Amino acid sequence: MINVTKTYLPNFDQYVGYLKEIWDRAQLTNDGPMARRLEAELKQYLGIDHLYFCGNGTIVLQIALKMLKKQGEVITTPCSYVATTNAIIWENCTPVFADIDAATFCINPDLVEAAITERTIAIMATHVYGNACDVERLQKIADKHGLALIYDGAHAFGVKLNGRSLLSYGNFTTCSFHATKLFHTVEGGMIVMGDPTIDPEVKFMRSFGHQGNDYFSVGVNAKNSEIHAAMGLCNLPQVPHLIAARKAICDLYDAQLNLSKLQRPILVPGLEYNYAYYPVVFESEEKLEEVCAALAQSQIIPRRYFYPSLNTLPFLKTTQPCPVSESICERVVCLPLHAELPHEDVLRIAAIINQNL
Ligand SMILES: Cc1ncc(COP(=O)(O)O)c(C=O)c1O
Repeated sequence: MINVTKTYLPNFDQYVGYLKEIWDRAQLTNDGPMARRLEAELKQYLGIDHLYFCGNGTIVLQIALKMLKKQGEVITTPCSYVATTNAIIWENCTPVFADIDAATFCINPDLVEAAITERTIAIMATHVYGNACDVERLQKIADKHGLALIYDGAHAFGVKLNGRSLLSYGNFTTCSFHATKLFHTVEGGMIVMGDPTIDPEVKFMRSFGHQGNDYFSVGVNAKNSEIHAAMGLCNLPQVPHLIAARKAICDLYDAQLNLSKLQRPILVPGLEYNYAYYPVVFESEEKLEEVCAALAQSQIIPRRYFYPSLNTLPFLKTTQPCPVSESICERVVCLPLHAELPHEDVLRIAAIINQNL
């Protein structure tokens, strides 16, 4: 079976070496030395000064919203994973959807501005598939209207925009280190703070609100463990190699697929991409289903990611049409992509798709 992705596993002995260190120290969690070392290495790799390693990529979205200390409307993208919308609802805020740009699949800044009301408190935008939102325009809109700007950067690890980490924009950017991600810690996530003065508060917030033996604020448990940090320490040095291997596969898909019949998101200028996903958009949902059925016969399982468009989630209280996102989300699949995917499999996948277009 060829799945949409396969978790990268580092050298086993290297991981066991880290485990031995953890065993000798007998500290498994609570901001341990391994977690702090991973944070230091992430700061260096990403060129970012203020970040925390956390439990997953969902709780960090919630913390970013919680840090705003108010509730209201959050303008967000319908083209993302359900965690983006759910974090907003979980924090007792109201998601207001602004449709996406048909070329980049990221939120459309004109529609963000049009959706602002006196109840708006923040913009929460996703760097979809690792492509960059229009960070300059979104920042201008946020500044003009006094709104917080939060980026869901779950897909954007290792991506740079004009030489700067894409994870360094806005008031907060979050990331997921889930096992399916380019860089992972089995489960895990990260929050990046644009404003260094709130760094200590986020740190307490991540750990029940503890400040020593006192309580600083209403916190949550968003820490991560030494065992997870060790996985990150093994995987981080591999990231450039993983990106290069993924790029070679994406180049091969580009060369082999009949792209005159498939739409692909357009990467924004100045982007140094991480090749995290290979989404293709079919001419219709029926065509998508036909091609997926043909692939399934050969045990090839792409993923309808993202589906459905989040503005159509059944548990939302209001209907907010987003025709561009709805159209793309019902026609997009992510093709199998991971660093160890054999090139002959890519040729086979491309051939089956081309035959069925
Ligand atoms: C865009 C986006 N946001 C948030 C998440 C949630 O991350 P996690 O699974 O680490 O909680 C994901 C996970 O796939 C995601 O794709």
